[in-house]
Amino acid sequence: MSGFFPPFDAPPDPAQGSALPLLVTARIPGPAGRPLIDLLAAHECPAITARRARRAESSGADQDPIVWDRALGANVWDPDGNRFVDLTAGFGVASAGQSNPLVVERVTAQLGRHMHGMGDAFPGRARIELAAALARIAPGGLEQVLFGSDGSDAVEAALKTAVIVTGRTRMLGFEGSYHGLSLGALSVSHYKEPFRAPFRGLMGRTADWVPFGCDEATLAAALDSEPVAAVIVEPIQGRGGDRTAPPDWFRALRRLCDARGIVLIFDEIFTGFGRAGALFQAGTDAVGGVVPDLLCVGKGMTSGFPVSACIGTRAIMGHWGSSAGEAIHTSTFLGHPVGCAAALAVIELIEEHGLIARGAALGEHMGRTLQDLVARDPDRFLGVRGRGAMRGLLVRGGIAATLPMCRALLNRGWIVMPAGADGEVISFTPALTLTRAQWDGAVAALEGL
Ligand SMILES: Cc1ncc(COP(=O)(O)O)c(C=O)c1O
Repeated sequence: MSGFFPPFDAPPDPAQGSALPLLVTARIPGPAGRPLIDLLAAHECPAITARRARRAESSGADQDPIVWDRALGANVWDPDGNRFVDLTAGFGVASAGQSNPLVVERVTAQLGRHMHGMGDAFPGRARIELAAALARIAPGGLEQVLFGSDGSDAVEAALKTAVIVTGRTRMLGFEGSYHGLSLGALSVSHYKEPFRAPFRGLMGRTADWVPFGCDEATLAAALDSEPVAAVIVEPIQGRGGDRTAPPDWFRALRRLCDARGIVLIFDEIFTGFGRAGALFQAGTDAVGGVVPDLLCVGKGMTSGFPVSACIGTRAIMGHWGSSAGEAIHTSTFLGHPVGCAAALAVIELIEEHGLIARGAALGEHMGRTLQDLVARDPDRFLGVRGRGAMRGLLVRGGIAATLPMCRALLNRGWIVMPAGADGEVISFTPALTLTRAQWDGAVAALEGL
């Protein structure tokens, strides 16, 4: 196993960031954190602060967030020196752990070569190498890449590609889906009405949604009621609460799309890069071996830099045609060199240092221990969702129960998030490099609440 992250059974080691957290009761926010919180409250747009206020109202807990000062592996420190274990990996991004040494080395080297490129006009070496690496590791014939910065960009690229391919503009998505908040991505996201409602006039009527995992007749009826450009689906609904669907359902999707010339998009921004027990869900038994026409990736691809990609088959991407002068889909930071260098380092960790196997071992252990917890405490916990290192613990009582639990865990040094349409699950998406000791400590803390 690699020296770039601790082995699964490594004993606690503070220098490697793999120690169990300090118990930090009642020190949030501390004296050094306080001025920063005040600055934040003064200058952050209420679009973001309002969310904290609502959280405080419903949980009765302190509404202030913790301030991140530094992070290593799965550990995060606040300005007061309190140490936490982040069981979200920063929304599923820090797949190889925060500031993984190999990623830092490659990023530092890139910073010394050049920090910024020139979008579509003059490609950087790292971007070219990353496109080739993505084509190598992606399943099926997915081999041509459109880069973006965040996950929403990859979704925008996929939707635009589907329109270019089919000449249609209507999309089909699934209830509970989350694809990002830029206008195109938002227009196909179903997760929570308040996200969409104020902007409906800007988006038009782009998408319809049917239940995730619905029967084939419902799918077919939705696809036949109007011409559809693309079906967009998360192999596991992440923000929607770690929900899975049966392999046969994905096979049906593929079959129905093929019969109608509809583009099938897998949004693997959350599930990709080893998050759910395999490099990608596409092509695995979990989705009936289905490979989509377009695969969106981001988050864990870089373990911490905003670079995303939409990867398509040559036949699909070919519809964009040759440029007539200016690129019609591009951006200033397209394929950012530093982010591309980070992604190449993550791919090296995958191909040469066993990162996926490490995440799969963690994921199995997470699943087993959470199932045991549910069996021991059925009054509080109803079940376990998800796959690999992407797990949701279904809590009796919904958001009214999960929010106080998340806050209590935070006060004990564990960072977790609620997920699901009703906040009904506590979601765990830690660094794939989390140790058994760290995870077992989290389960013990949860049980002791
Ligand atoms: C499945 C999925 N797609 C798209 C996105 C949007 O990514 P970003 O927040 O980087 O725009 C997310 C973010 O959580 C996601 O989980």
